[in-house]
Amino acid sequence: MSHDAVPIGEATLMRQACDKYRSTFGRQPVVASRAPGRVNLLGDHVDYCEGYVLPCALPFMTIIVGGYNDTDVCHVVSTLANGETVTTSFPSTTTTELTPGPPAWSNYVKGTVAKFPKPVAGFNAAIVSDVPMGSGLSSSASLEVGVFTFLEQLTGLSVDPVEKARLCQSAEHEFPGVPCGIMDQYIVAMGQEDHALLIDCRSLASTQIPINTGDTAILVTNSNVKHKLTGSEYPQRRAQCEEAAAKLRIPSLRSAKITDLDRLRQMKCDELVLKRAQHVIGEIARTEEVAKRLRENDLERVGQLFYESHESLSELMEVSCPELDQLVDITRGAPGVLGARMTGGGFAGCVITLVKKDQVDNLKKLILSKYKGTPVFFICQPSDGAKGYKL
Ligand code: GLA
Repeated sequence: MSHDAVPIGEATLMRQACDKYRSTFGRQPVVASRAPGRVNLLGDHVDYCEGYVLPCALPFMTIIVGGYNDTDVCHVVSTLANGETVTTSFPSTTTTELTPGPPAWSNYVKGTVAKFPKPVAGFNAAIVSDVPMGSGLSSSASLEVGVFTFLEQLTGLSVDPVEKARLCQSAEHEFPGVPCGIMDQYIVAMGQEDHALLIDCRSLASTQIPINTGDTAILVTNSNVKHKLTGSEYPQRRAQCEEAAAKLRIPSLRSAKITDLDRLRQMKCDELVLKRAQHVIGEIARTEEVAKRLRENDLERVGQLFYESHESLSELMEVSCPELDQLVDITRGAPGVLGARMTGGGFAGCVITLVKKDQVDNLKKLILSKYKGTPVFFICQPSDGAKGYKL
């Protein structure tokens, strides 16, 4: 069994999507979009606190092709990674206000159509994607931003990418019902090849940071674990951070200083709320520093900050899991490793490791021999964000 995930590539995915479209709808697609997945280099569980985040877009992507169908109904067909085909149909927004409902996956599509700034007449669309699902690589944001970009091509209305990210985020809040921050939709919309994006989640301004890691690679290890979550873990973390900010009478933890932790203690603040605030304050500072050190090419320090971030996410934010902790622990002291951390929302998903390129294979062997799960690896290659095309 191969333990490497290889991106299928835009041309092949596009061909697959066009084939699916033709065989399902009996006509040629006229517009298309592509939208990548993402990995976050630093700054987790801080976007909803208006902090800094540093993600980059990946070469795994969602492709959508289609065209108007001259009816008042939208028909969407999607091919899943296991080859299974799922379909959904819903009224066009020229006639009806859309509401969330089953099947669950359709809410990402419907929510985005509902949030598009202009009513959209009936269309047919085919979706294919090689963004691993449930792996913390933003397959959801990839789908939302992909649909939005497809609609821009279809309707001829082009929307500012930051506004696009904001609208896709509100689609996710209101349709699937996940109170996510803006990081995922923003990087999927704005990613750039060979760059990470330092996003200020308060001002929504961003700076492209060149990623020239030379003889060092960013290895992504997918833990491939699926934990049973109640769905309340993420909203609970967000609520705890909001509680800390409310106690401090500040709009968000972005404005908090390390000394505010003492103030929270004096207020007899709940222990968990205090830990969450401590994570957020530290993580925002680490993200700014990692962006700076990447510019200076000080990868040793970036590696240390990766480990610090992981400890904070694991112990203070409590969003890691035994498998992610184990994957990070295996890297400690391994030849060529500078640092490692879990990335994304947590509880499952991936670990990123800064490791010398000539030690990548040895590290993979070490992980395969020690990790109790079945890992899948790929090297992070920062890629372009969403794009639309006329076919
Ligand atoms: C998920 C959310 C993001 C962000 C990360 C954690 O990916 O969608 O908004 O909060 O978790 O950094």
